Amino acid sequence: MSKKVTKIGIMTSGGDAPGMNACVRAAVRTGLFNKMEVYGITRGYSGMIDDDIHKMDSRSVANIIQRGGTILKTARCKEFMTPEGRKKAYANLKKHGINGLIIIGGDGSFKGAQIFSNEFDIPCIGIPGTIDKDIAGTDFTIGFDTAVNTAIDAIDKIRDTADAHDRLFIVEVMGRDAGYIALYSGIGTGAEHILIPEQKTDVEAVIKSLQEKERRKKLVNIVVVAEGDDFGGGNELAEIIKERIPGFDIRVAILGHVQRGGAPSSLDRMIASRMGYSAVNCLIEGNHNVMVGIVNNKMHYTPLDKAIKAKQRINEDWLKMVKILAS
Ligand code: F6P
Repeated sequence: MSKKVTKIGIMTSGGDAPGMNACVRAAVRTGLFNKMEVYGITRGYSGMIDDDIHKMDSRSVANIIQRGGTILKTARCKEFMTPEGRKKAYANLKKHGINGLIIIGGDGSFKGAQIFSNEFDIPCIGIPGTIDKDIAGTDFTIGFDTAVNTAIDAIDKIRDTADAHDRLFIVEVMGRDAGYIALYSGIGTGAEHILIPEQKTDVEAVIKSLQEKERRKKLVNIVVVAEGDDFGGGNELAEIIKERIPGFDIRVAILGHVQRGGAPSSLDRMIASRMGYSAVNCLIEGNHNVMVGIVNNKMHYTPLDKAIKAKQRINEDWLKMVKILAS
């Protein structure tokens, strides 16, 4: 029987994602409702090591549900990957009496949580917060929907100017290891090609198809490429296309960190609230060391070690569909 969790620490870790604030709000208020003491840990694991930990009340999370970024700040912390770093972090948690943790972040953050919960007797709950959607055990991660909408909004605008000039635009979106933003934003904007890290890029096939489009005088084309594509990013692709099809007027747009900011979408606010609420209930009910996800619109709990290893699968049929719809 696990010990009763009475004092919880909440942190955001890794790359920020729109909706993290909505999730912090939900977890803080659910904790307070259940008569827990709630602490905010600033800058993720770095704040745990530096004792940047402060008590939160209901007012600390007022007026944040609509804000991007994270009021708790975030960081990627190398020191936490060392036993010495984790010892320091644990000593600080003990000082405050914190006996349960909620970590909102990506798979790197869950890896840290898993090691920490094994080493010290402290239950951890992971909440998937990353625009990349590269975590198994959940249909959505906090921030993904907003990032896709931001990318779609930008690509729609790019299409206007592409059309005015008869240009080929290569749009690079975020996603170091995962192509979901590229896939969803590419499908949503009617892109001619979508290049993602999960699939080996056949540049020859892309060139052949663009040559064929040039013959048909289809000069407005959008190619969406994930930054982590195996062939390289937008600039690399533009170079080779320029060389092989000089007839195309090509421009590259790298959307970058604009995709990480902004007010969260309705979907992100909703899933963030549900996940934050559910994470506290997991700590109360003894459902420990799991990641809280949502699958088929129902809460779904995945052991932290499984949330780390597995990635989601790209639906091959979607890629086939992209070719058909862009013909
Ligand atoms: O993990 C989210 C993400 O936005 C990736 O898509 C991107 O490659 C990376 O973070 C960028 O990280 P940073 O903000 O540290 O440059």
